[in-house]
Amino acid sequence: MTDWKTKLIHAGVHAPEGFKSLAEPVHRGSTVLFPSAGEQRESWDHYEGGYSYGTHGTQTVLELASRICELEGGYRTWIVPCGLASISLVNLALLSAGDHLLLPANVYGPSRRMAAKLLSRLGVEWSLYPPLAGEGIREYLRPNTRLVWCEAPGSVTMEVPDVPAMVRVAHEAGALVAVDNTWAAGVLFDALGHGADVTMQALSKYVGGHSDLLLGSVTASNAEIWQKLGDAHCILGLSVSPDEASLALRGLKTMAVRLDAIEARALELARWLGEQPEIERVLHPALESCPGHENWKRDFTGSSGVFSIVFREGTRKEQVHGFVDALKLFGIGYSWGGVSSLALTYDFTHSPERPVYGNRLVRLNIGLESVEDLRADLAQALLVGMGL
Ligand SMILES: Cc1ncc(COP(=O)(O)O)c(C=O)c1O
Repeated sequence: MTDWKTKLIHAGVHAPEGFKSLAEPVHRGSTVLFPSAGEQRESWDHYEGGYSYGTHGTQTVLELASRICELEGGYRTWIVPCGLASISLVNLALLSAGDHLLLPANVYGPSRRMAAKLLSRLGVEWSLYPPLAGEGIREYLRPNTRLVWCEAPGSVTMEVPDVPAMVRVAHEAGALVAVDNTWAAGVLFDALGHGADVTMQALSKYVGGHSDLLLGSVTASNAEIWQKLGDAHCILGLSVSPDEASLALRGLKTMAVRLDAIEARALELARWLGEQPEIERVLHPALESCPGHENWKRDFTGSSGVFSIVFREGTRKEQVHGFVDALKLFGIGYSWGGVSSLALTYDFTHSPERPVYGNRLVRLNIGLESVEDLRADLAQALLVGMGL
């Protein structure tokens, strides 16, 4: 081959082999080359059948999947484009027309919208259950209930469910249990060890850890669920970039120290906020004031940095908004789990299935700023907000 145009594509020289570094290599590729025509295959299962096509995962993506799976103690893990895609994958893999799906009343909003606007159109029935139902989930099960979702803890109102009790009852009735284990970063709550059949995490939060990537994971407890997830993943084309996966692999390396530091800051601030006269209740799973705290104490090995505060009754919406607007170190924005502190207001005045927090709730994400500075910021914002 002498033509330079061919050399551009089929080089005759290569870098020396043997480069080893501490960083995970980023393997890009849509096409995967087979050694021979006889070895060409179309399997999505890169573990059993070898690599076949980029959408089913490159080596970097499977490296991340293996790490998440090891941390969660699962059978195998799929990596998908975001946490919401993890929820889609679980639902579309495990539910069929005629099945019934149970969601906790405090479920992540888009998950509820998926049930209402997509799954119901596909013939899946769905309904809500009180997040602290525990064994009482029995009352909400129907003969065709196939899947029960739990959030540990629930979005925004932070109730910590009794997962083992729900697993017992759901399994007796032939339903599977899926856990959104994002708050615990897949490591502070052993959802599969407590009986869940499948877990998901928004890796966009603590695994990514820097608010600069979107990824999700779904971890199966056994081969049967893995097969169902794989069949759906392959059809849906939920592939992810190796660059995102490599950032998540990097995030994992510092997650332990980030989580420790965030936990300490969040607990200190949550306790301090609980002592402020303007605050009626602090919804932090590690504090007794949080519904389901006893489940956290029994089942979790730590806490992370997201919790909510409820202002005392009579606080006006403008005061709550004034408090958030006055914060200087807290950004106002969705998502969480990064190094920057965030605050968001929520209005539950039209949500009869939620506790009566009205529009007095603010959710905080605690980052890695100095805890003294964060406390001073919260203190000055309380003064400004209440003064309105
Ligand atoms: C509890 C929970 N689950 C899932 C998600 C979805 O994650 P993503 O933003 O990566 O789609 C979020 C996002 O905020 C969340 O809070």
